[in-house]
Amino acid sequence: MDSKSLFRIANEAASRSYSPYSKFRVGAALLCEDGSIVTGANVENRSYGLAICAERSAIVAAISQGKRNFKALVVSCPDASYPVSPCGACRQFISEFVKPDFPILFGDATGTLVETTMGELFPHDALHELANRQ
Ligand code: THU
Repeated sequence: MDSKSLFRIANEAASRSYSPYSKFRVGAALLCEDGSIVTGANVENRSYGLAICAERSAIVAAISQGKRNFKALVVSCPDASYPVSPCGACRQFISEFVKPDFPILFGDATGTLVETTMGELFPHDALHELANRQ
């Protein structure tokens, strides 16, 4: 699956965002090792701090479906005029399940895509030895 197709899927997922407070829709498409794609959208709450980002929403959905191995994550922010990268909390959250060379792509309303990796977004990762013990 190419990055443009994944971006289109992330963009569709953004249309399912629940973001009445920020009015900032975000969608994520997570390409799984088995070739399937799990999507996520940001879900806000009137208690603002409870908002869940699209990236975490996709990871939680995938893990809940029994998928733990991932090939790439693509994020679409159709309300942004520049590509918006995953927030710090999401970087930590995603890093639980992927290696530093894992591709992460993010794009804006125009479809401009920035391609990076987990390691670039979250260098000097800590607590590796605690991860994946189960
Ligand atoms: N948001 C995401 O879903 N992913 C990001 O990478 C950036 C921020 C959401 C959280 C909140 O619902 C809205 O965008 C504004 O910050």
